[in-house]
Amino acid sequence: MNENIKELEKKAKAAKLGGGRARIEKQHAKGKLTARERLDILLDEDSFQEWDMFVEHRAVDFGMDEQKIPGDGVVTGYGKINGKLVYVFSQDFTVFGGSLSEAHAEKICKVMDHAVRNGAPLIGLNDSGGARIQEGVVSLGGYAEVFQRNVLASGVVPQISLVMGPCAGGAVYSPAMTDFIFMVEDSSYMFVTGPEVVKTVTHEEVTAEELGGASTHSRKSGVADLTFKNDTEALLMTREFLSYLPQNNKVKSSTVATDDPVEREESSLDTLVPEDPSKPYDIKEVINKIADDGEFFEIQPNYAQNIVIGFTRLNGSTIGVVANQPLVLAGCLDINASIKGARFIRFCDAFNIPIWTLVDVPGFMPGTSQEHGGIIKHGAKLLFAYAEATVPKVTLITRKAYGGAYDVMSSKHIRGDVNFAWPSAEIAVMGPKGAVEIIFRKDIGDEQKIEKRTKEYRTKFANPFIAASRGYIDDIFLPHKTRGKLCHSFEMLNNKKQENPWRKHDNIPL
Ligand code: HXC
Repeated sequence: MNENIKELEKKAKAAKLGGGRARIEKQHAKGKLTARERLDILLDEDSFQEWDMFVEHRAVDFGMDEQKIPGDGVVTGYGKINGKLVYVFSQDFTVFGGSLSEAHAEKICKVMDHAVRNGAPLIGLNDSGGARIQEGVVSLGGYAEVFQRNVLASGVVPQISLVMGPCAGGAVYSPAMTDFIFMVEDSSYMFVTGPEVVKTVTHEEVTAEELGGASTHSRKSGVADLTFKNDTEALLMTREFLSYLPQNNKVKSSTVATDDPVEREESSLDTLVPEDPSKPYDIKEVINKIADDGEFFEIQPNYAQNIVIGFTRLNGSTIGVVANQPLVLAGCLDINASIKGARFIRFCDAFNIPIWTLVDVPGFMPGTSQEHGGIIKHGAKLLFAYAEATVPKVTLITRKAYGGAYDVMSSKHIRGDVNFAWPSAEIAVMGPKGAVEIIFRKDIGDEQKIEKRTKEYRTKFANPFIAASRGYIDDIFLPHKTRGKLCHSFEMLNNKKQENPWRKHDNIPL
C-alpha cells in the first residue's frame, strides 16, 4: 500500500513537471504559459478536476519506450467558468512538443464524449507540433478520432479553440471544425504545412508569422475569430466570451442582471445618421448606444469589416448582432462579409441565440473579382443562413436597404419576426442615381431632367413608407426609442417556436 502511495506521488509529480524544468523555462522565455498555468487562469479557482494524469503512450520505436511522461503531453478534465461546467484539454508543449499520440488523442476524445453526453462546452488549448512523428499512422488515426468527434459535437455543444503555440498539420484541422478560434499574437501559428515545406514545394520564402500568424489569420484568411496580446488576456477574455453562450443546443444562454433601463432613450441616435446618404457613420456606435451598458463583444473585428458581428445583451439576454458597416465599402456585401455573417448566424441559430440585424446596405459588391470569386454562391450563404434560422429575428433598417441585400438582411419575407425602420430608411430596388440612369437612360446628358427624375425617385422610393404600407415593416419610429422597441420585441419572442421541414440536413451552398 505504502509503495503504491509513493508511486502515486512520484507519477503525479512527474506529470506536473511535464517535459522538465528546462523546457518549462523555454516556454516561459517565449512568453508562453504552461498547460497547467493556462488552466489555472481559464477555470474558476479550485474547480479543475483532472482525468488521465497517468496515461502513457505505447510507442516503442526510436527509443520511445524509454521516454514516458505521465499524462503524455495533454492535461484533460473538467471545471467551471463563471460557475458553469466546461470540459477542457490543454496541450503541453514541453512534452514531445505537445504532439498528438494515440494515447494523447484518446484523452481528448474522452472529454469530448463527456461534453456531448453531459451538454457542456468544450474548450481546447492547442499548442502542438501535430501528429507524433514517432508513432506514424497511429497518431493520424488519433487525429481522425478527434475530428469525427468535432463534427458530431458541432451544433450540440459550443466548441472553442485557443491556439497558443505552433499548430501544424493535423493540429489545425480540429480547431478549424470548432465554432471559434482565438489566437495569441506573436506566439501562435496555424498552417497545414510550415515555411520549410512551402519553400520546397512552391519556392516561396515566407516567415511562420506571415504564413500563419495571428495577424494573417485575423485579417487575411478569416480563420481566427479573435487575437489577444498574450496567454493571460486570451484566457480571461475566453471566460468573458463564455458568459454569452448557452451550455448546449437545448438551452438558452443565462441572463445577466442589468440596471440599464429597458426604456432608456438615447437622443444622440436621432442625429447619428447623416442627412447626406453618401456620408458614412459607424454602425458600432449605434450598437453600443442601444446595448445593455454599452457592451458589445465583437467577433472578427479585423476581417471583412463591411459587416460587423458579435454578441451583446438586451435587457439581460444574449443577442447575436449582424450589422452592415457603412464605414467600410459603404456597407456593401461581398464574398468575405457574406461568409462571415452566414457562419455567425448559423452558430446563433444552432445555439438558441436571437439575432438582431442592423441594415444599411447599398447592395452586393459589383465587379469581376467578386463575380469570378463566386459572389453568387457565397452571397447565397448569407441568404440561406437567415432564411433557415428559426431563432427570434429582429431587424432594424437604419438607412439603405437596396435590392437583393434588402431581401437577404433578415427581411420580413425570409421570416424576420419583427422588422423596424428609422424614418431615414430607404427601401427600394436600388439607389436613386442608379435607378434613374436605367429607367430614364434617354435623358442622360440632360442634367436638369436627370436631377428632376432623381428627386422624384428619391421622394417616391427613398423612404420606409411603401414597405410599411405593405406590412413588410412593422413599425417606424424615431431612433431614440430603439432600445425599448428592441427589448420589448425580443421579450415578446422569448417563447418562439418554429420548425423547418424534416430532412437529413440542408444543402447550404458551400
Ligand atoms: C514528435 C515533436 C513534434 C512532432 C515537435 N516535437 N513536433 N515530437 N512529433 N510532431 C518535439 C521536438 O522534437 C522537440 O523535442 C520539441 O518537440 C520542441 O520542438 P522544437 O522543434 O524544438 O520547437 P520549436 O523550434 O518551437 O518548433 C516547433 C514546431 C516544430 C514548429 C512545431 O517542432 C515542427 O515543425 N515540428 C514538426 C511539425 C510537423 O511537421 N508535424 C507533423 C505534421 S503532420 P525536444 O526533445 O528537443 O524538446 C500531421 C498529420 C496530421 O500532423 C494530418 C491530419 C489531417
